[in-house]
Amino acid sequence: MAKIDNRNIESHLKEKRVFKPSREFARAARIKTLAQYQKMWRESIRSPEKFWAREAKELMWRAPWKKVLEWKPPFAKWFIGGKINLSENCLDRHLLTHRRNKAAIIWEGEPGEKRTLTYQQLHHEVCRFANVLKRNKIGKGDRVIIYLPTIPEAAIAMLACARIGAVHSVVFGGFSSDAIRDRIQDSGAVAVITADGSYRRGGIVPLKKNVDDALRERSTIKRVIVFRRTAADIHMEEGRDVWWHRELEYVNANCPPVALDSEHPLYILYTSGSTGKPKGILHTTAGYLLGIYATTKYVFDIRDEDIYWCTADVGWVTGHSYVVYGPLACGATTLMYEGAPNWPEPDRFWRIIEDHRVNILYTAPTAIRAFIRWGDEWVKKHDLSSLRLLGSVGEPINPEAWMWYQRTIGGGRCPVVDTWWQTETGCIMITPLPGAVPTKPGSATLPFFGVDPAIVDLSGKEVGPNVGGKLIIRKPWPSMLRTIYGDKERYKKQYWSEYPGNYLTGDGARRDEEGYFWIVGRIDDVLNVAGHRLGTSEIESALVSHARVAEAAVVGRPDELKGQGVVAFVTLKANVDPTAALKAELREHVGKHIGAIAKPDEVRFAEALPKTRSGKIMRRLLKELATGKTVTGDTTTLEDFSVLAKLSGAEE
Ligand code: WT7
Repeated sequence: MAKIDNRNIESHLKEKRVFKPSREFARAARIKTLAQYQKMWRESIRSPEKFWAREAKELMWRAPWKKVLEWKPPFAKWFIGGKINLSENCLDRHLLTHRRNKAAIIWEGEPGEKRTLTYQQLHHEVCRFANVLKRNKIGKGDRVIIYLPTIPEAAIAMLACARIGAVHSVVFGGFSSDAIRDRIQDSGAVAVITADGSYRRGGIVPLKKNVDDALRERSTIKRVIVFRRTAADIHMEEGRDVWWHRELEYVNANCPPVALDSEHPLYILYTSGSTGKPKGILHTTAGYLLGIYATTKYVFDIRDEDIYWCTADVGWVTGHSYVVYGPLACGATTLMYEGAPNWPEPDRFWRIIEDHRVNILYTAPTAIRAFIRWGDEWVKKHDLSSLRLLGSVGEPINPEAWMWYQRTIGGGRCPVVDTWWQTETGCIMITPLPGAVPTKPGSATLPFFGVDPAIVDLSGKEVGPNVGGKLIIRKPWPSMLRTIYGDKERYKKQYWSEYPGNYLTGDGARRDEEGYFWIVGRIDDVLNVAGHRLGTSEIESALVSHARVAEAAVVGRPDELKGQGVVAFVTLKANVDPTAALKAELREHVGKHIGAIAKPDEVRFAEALPKTRSGKIMRRLLKELATGKTVTGDTTTLEDFSVLAKLSGAEE
């Protein structure tokens, strides 16, 4: 058991299983052994500029850089003096090779349509749409809101912006008009690119109407470009709104990429802060491109012949980095799917994998836990033998969910890469390399090249093995956020003030005796039970390891004796009865797996847990419920409002 220290987060859950990369996989991989990874990692930390310069040479530059890094904490500039264009790297670069007739995007709509765009075709569409932007007086440095479903046009719009140096800000298609309005206001955007609607679980989401509502009051928006997706009846505002397909009639496909400064802003992506207004995370061109290029190459060990599928929506950073930019920068084939995983039935993902012979699957723990809940019979109906690599991102993955993913989806033959990163980091930071690093279920394992993470206590001192603390990054990296748009002070305060010169991730973690990282959850969610600081993920994982549990969320509530008591919200697998006996059993189960200190004071069964639109459990809301309060905080990012009503009406 870990040493008890009131200031630090304790860690009790010990996972013993280790999975070595198979000899076959390792032999074909870019990085083949742990020793090779370690050597390269050490070099990358000793001389990051040399490492990144070598990787950067694989990209296409318009003018060479003069200096790799200028670091005036907390402000970094990478590849100073260099000129580059991200869309040229994702498109034109491949037209010079055999890749020009290869599928760049394979897309499947929720209703079932299929489309394939080769690199040549995608290039053609991007050039034409970039000319549409210019025709509508959108130019370099202008901010453009993209509010589209996960359809090829979302990628086309992003790449077209990048081609002319316009700065995009993608707003997730599930967000409301208020969210659009706030983002327009904060970014000062001049245009919105949207669709007449999008399909979701068979219904139509009224995207254009949401945009109309967001534009009711005076705003900076001069133009709205509307793609026809559903043929729904919509309002077109004279003088402001134009149709995507009509605009294309006026342009040709000749649009040379603009040579942009390395540090030219590429996009702003808003992420909800724990309090207050959303933060506009700003990413710039060369460093971001390099980060997503290098990680896609090494982490997914991507091959020309692969069909790669990241299931994220383009509205999240994962959709930016690993649906669109990363795979295209690598010249890979990226699969895009528009809809829900359980539409029309819970086997949609497995059907897609079978139909398209997908080789690499990258998805989220929340989806994996839902699949477990829906039952293995949906998986067994399909041939998943094309898969060769699996990835996970977004939350700590519970060891039992990891095991299920590895066995039931991966057939025991695919490496699982559990990748830790954030909107702010731009690309994957802590991750196994699939041919080199032995994996342990629930651990994101070791840092990527050039990444220097550490776990520190309150005084900033690095803690020893298996002691919990705060996760920080000690060196700048190319794809790091450059600022919070329009708010330098918040950027400094939020990420760099606690341990000056070091980036604060906001996550709690521990390292085991082999240096493996185990993320225990957001620092804000940490519980303090009788002087013991416990991360949420370990108690949750202990609950999920019980055969009848599908998902669990743990929060603290004030307790006179212990400071905080542990309340567990638990969803059960299909056809399990929510009995009092089972509650008692679950308490004992946690006691056995972690220790008496972590035993929930109360177990509440729920039909579903409140999640953000990106699938993260909203523990903040559960905390309010656990203390008997009604939910008052911001719920705009909540996926399904009926969940809250059900929870507050829940028994006890
Ligand atoms: C937060 C970042 C990374 C893109 C999608 C989410 C949590 C993310 C993992 C992982 C444990 C993870 C962290 C992080 N997280 N990946 N593999 N293991 N936790 O981006 O919305 O910016 O969220 O997600 O808490 O800080 P995001």
